[in-house]
Amino acid sequence: MSELTQLYDQIRVCQKCDLSKGRTNAVPGEGPENSEIMMIGEAPGFYEDREGRPFVGASGKFLDELLAGIQLKRDQIYICNVIKCRPPQNRDPQPEEMDACKPYLDRQIDLIKPKIIITISRFAMARWFADKKIGEIHGKPKKIGNLVVLPMYHPAAALHQPSLKKVLQEDFGKIPQILKEMANLQEEQEQKKPEPPQQLSMF
Ligand code: URA
Repeated sequence: MSELTQLYDQIRVCQKCDLSKGRTNAVPGEGPENSEIMMIGEAPGFYEDREGRPFVGASGKFLDELLAGIQLKRDQIYICNVIKCRPPQNRDPQPEEMDACKPYLDRQIDLIKPKIIITISRFAMARWFADKKIGEIHGKPKKIGNLVVLPMYHPAAALHQPSLKKVLQEDFGKIPQILKEMANLQEEQEQKKPEPPQQLSMF
């Protein structure tokens, strides 16, 4: 069993906060373990809680459209949420719930090792951009070590405010170029690495 699968098993039986009492299913996340792209949403909603899978409701459908716009399919990206259980009436996650869930998200990032993390919720964004506003930084990639973090509006925001649809499409449009630039950078860095010392064949 992979470490990620073990983590999912832990999440499914987690009782670290009271959200476990009201859930139908915890929603650990899903996607390929070697995905270059990781998306982090807020929390499961009604349909996600029912199915135990992230982004299966209306915002998930729009997310699929956004991905299709850059020739990507859902099963090519890793997707999860800041908290793994649905808050009652979809209220905002509370600080103690996010604290309880943080080790799970930390481990997911550790195991997946994505090249790019796309935050699609303000609670995910806050991890890297504590006091910034989404209106100012959406679509602007930030390099943090070997990782690029790209904040975006939540797809559900465009369902309530149609003018955001175009903004999201444009921001998603930046993903292929960012990945290309990161691949070029990695190639350059690898070329600069000094050759390992030659072995002497006599010994
Ligand atoms: N919204 C989220 O942030 N996450 C989901 O899984 C579904 C809707």
